[in-house]
Amino acid sequence: MPKVQRYNFITMPKELAIEQLAIADWVKGLAAMPEREFTLKNVQHYIVHHGVRPETLDKYLFFSKGNYTRNLIFRNDLFECMTICWEIGQHSSIHNHRDQNCWMSAPIGRLKIQNFRVEDKDATCGKCKVFPTEIYEMDAANPVHVNPLEPVHQVLNLPEFNQRAVSIHVYSKPFDSCEVYAKEKGTYGDVPLHYTSEYGKLHPDEKLL
Ligand SMILES: [Fe+2]
Repeated sequence: MPKVQRYNFITMPKELAIEQLAIADWVKGLAAMPEREFTLKNVQHYIVHHGVRPETLDKYLFFSKGNYTRNLIFRNDLFECMTICWEIGQHSSIHNHRDQNCWMSAPIGRLKIQNFRVEDKDATCGKCKVFPTEIYEMDAANPVHVNPLEPVHQVLNLPEFNQRAVSIHVYSKPFDSCEVYAKEKGTYGDVPLHYTSEYGKLHPDEKLL
């Protein structure tokens, strides 16, 4: 029987039936969506109604004291799906997603999402101003998507949460670099992205601390 959980999503605060799936089935469901239906709203609906059973994520869990890890589960031309594993206190940089859609959920632990507004962006000198805006909290019952109108954000596993966290990210289309913002310096620039592990196998150059 589907489990009923309370959730406070950005646009639809209701009680919803969530079906808990193994990660392989969860990804299969996404991959079965035709490209024309792979919209912000439809994928959001899928993620809200389909949870991931945490015990099925084992092969995609790599933690490092040095940095959070990115672990590819599935990738095709339309989307990529990965876990990101966060030790206590780890956080991402302030970044964007190259104008691609992003959906996130956190089957393990909880995470804070801080959004930012960017002003006075000057590509000639890589300068900008960055201001914090909304804050969301994400956990198993509260997935979020990145607002395409305000796509710059930071993900934080706050020390006071006092537990590891694992988030699942779906990006469409896949991208291999992002723009990173240094708030204090008022600068921004491109940073390449890489996977710590792919399809359950640790990257050969990767040394987990
Ligand atoms: Fe992000």
